[in-house]
Amino acid sequence: MAQQQKKDERFAPLKNDLIIRAAFGQKTERVPVWVMRQAGRYLPEYHEAKAGADFFTVCRNKELASTITLQPVERFPLDAAIIFTDILVVPQALGMEVLMLEKAGPHFPHPLTSPDDLAKLDEPSAALERLNYVFEAITLTRERLAGRVPLIGFSGAPWTLMAYMIEGGGSKMFAKAKAWFYKYPEASHALLQRLTDTIIIYLEGQVAAGAQLLQIFDSWANEIGPDVFATFSKPYLLQIARALKAKHPEIPLIVCSLQGNLDPCALYSSKEVIREEVRKMLQSFGSTQGLIGNLGHGLHPSHDPQLVGEFIEAVHEISEEMNRSA
Ligand code: CP3
Repeated sequence: MAQQQKKDERFAPLKNDLIIRAAFGQKTERVPVWVMRQAGRYLPEYHEAKAGADFFTVCRNKELASTITLQPVERFPLDAAIIFTDILVVPQALGMEVLMLEKAGPHFPHPLTSPDDLAKLDEPSAALERLNYVFEAITLTRERLAGRVPLIGFSGAPWTLMAYMIEGGGSKMFAKAKAWFYKYPEASHALLQRLTDTIIIYLEGQVAAGAQLLQIFDSWANEIGPDVFATFSKPYLLQIARALKAKHPEIPLIVCSLQGNLDPCALYSSKEVIREEVRKMLQSFGSTQGLIGNLGHGLHPSHDPQLVGEFIEAVHEISEEMNRSA
């Protein structure tokens, strides 16, 4: 059953709680939608607000981060906002240098190369202090949302962050990170535990700041087999889920490892094709109960905002239609 969100005198009451109810498995009037990377480079207003500033500088500026978080909500009938930041701010707060390169994406100039490097990482409590800017951006965004839609907070999962910290960026094989499981199993667990402890207090801090739903991205869960997942990812995800549930049972927690939902490349087509694909997707789930519409991956800079809008409207309209005929 959905837990009532606690009344928070700091903020206006929530007008649209579809995504919260859907996350608790309830039936909703229509399927709520948010879109991976809904704030970002496909929106001209994003480039305008960012004005050439470095990605992490934008994240640390609460005014800018909040403005950019709200941009897609102001343009489209979305059912949630997601705070503008990145999963890699956690390794950064633990003391690692992380750059966001224009074309190449995330880059760690000094990745972890052996268990000795773990000594260079800071304690979770020190990391938490450095993440205060995320909490400030969340609180400001909640104020500015004025109850229009819920605000999603998020973190990377321990394994996904470990992969970035060892690989130093994206990877095709994840050979270096996966080798740690076999070469240094104890150090792997120590690193994953350090990340887990940090993620728990980071997510708690996001809730205290005003986040109304939490999402954990285990983006590289599909790179490890079921045995390795059972040993090196799942126990840490469970620790996070249990800690958050114990403290904040009213806050839904979504773990996003293997993504379902629509292939973002379908949004390179037309209104008609998008409708057809959304219909197929929704019908394949059988019922609209407990569904949250989204894409399987993030939007690309080359996506057309108009067709992103068509996707959102298609999920709303087709799910309403399905509800009427059910
Ligand atoms: O609108 C939103 O979705 C909220 C903001 C958000 C960003 N990153 C901003 C961002 C979210 C939820 C993330 C999560 C994230 N970041 C994940 C998990 C989700 C997934 O995609 O699997 C991962 C793996 C990352 C790490 C990351 N950050 C990569 C691989 C990249 C480069 C890829 C790319 O799209 O360029 C980033 C950069 C990044 N994070 C951008 C944005 C808007 C683009 C950089 C820019 O605008 O300068």
